[in-house]
Amino acid sequence: MNIILLGAPGAGKGTQAAVICEHLNIPTISTGNIIREALRTGTEMGLKAKSYMDEGKLVPDEVVIGIIEERLQNDDCKNGFILDGFPRTIPQAEALDKMGVVIDKVIDIEVPDEVIVTRLSGRRVCEKCGRPYHIVDLKPRVEGVCDDCTGALIQRKDDHIDTVKARLEIYHAETEPLKDYYGAQGKLTIVEGQDKVEDTTALTIKALEA
Ligand code: AP5
Repeated sequence: MNIILLGAPGAGKGTQAAVICEHLNIPTISTGNIIREALRTGTEMGLKAKSYMDEGKLVPDEVVIGIIEERLQNDDCKNGFILDGFPRTIPQAEALDKMGVVIDKVIDIEVPDEVIVTRLSGRRVCEKCGRPYHIVDLKPRVEGVCDDCTGALIQRKDDHIDTVKARLEIYHAETEPLKDYYGAQGKLTIVEGQDKVEDTTALTIKALEA
């Protein structure tokens, strides 16, 4: 199954993707994680993306479209994949269509802006694999250490409050129109994000199995 996870920054896309990818045994492709990895290793693409990302802006379409086109050619995508954070603009969605990629389901996780602001300030992410945690709601087994890969947990630069607000504005202007785009194709299911991660997961899995 080819799945897109839509939602505002901090809606829980990464958290749900981690569970679904195990449940369905398909890879998660997170453009945010790919760009952060390029930044960490100092590639040309990473350096180009840095200023956009740090300010909470979208990286130019042609950069992320190139990343996705290349990544989807990997063998591990043959039985399906989860796109987390792509597409984020109408031109990105159109590029996916032009590549001949058939999307089966689009899950949009809805969370009010004020909840997002609280969540992101408490978020910590694994420096190595990008798995998200929360200082109150989703603690790792050992403080400061990733359950999956033992990487160190850090706070992202773009999780500072002013940058979060800028990301939300861009989300409403550029990404939210994708709900109509996929709604018109009959592929969209809206999942109301719940207070507990496992409750959102139950609704997400139900939506995927419908
Ligand atoms: P990206 O990494 O994709 O960031 P984002 O979409 O802004 O999303 P987040 O990772 O912040 O949130 P999430 O929805 O995954 O939430 P999470 O599960 O972590 O992109 C970063 C940047 O890269 C962009 O700003 C842009 O510059 C660039 N970029 C990436 N893709 C691009 C593209 N396609 N085009 C252009 N630029 C692109 O959860 C958040 C927190 O909430 C966690 O702490 C979690 O534990 C907690 N939480 C989750 N669910 C719940 C729950 N149900 N109850 C309580 N807490 C919860």
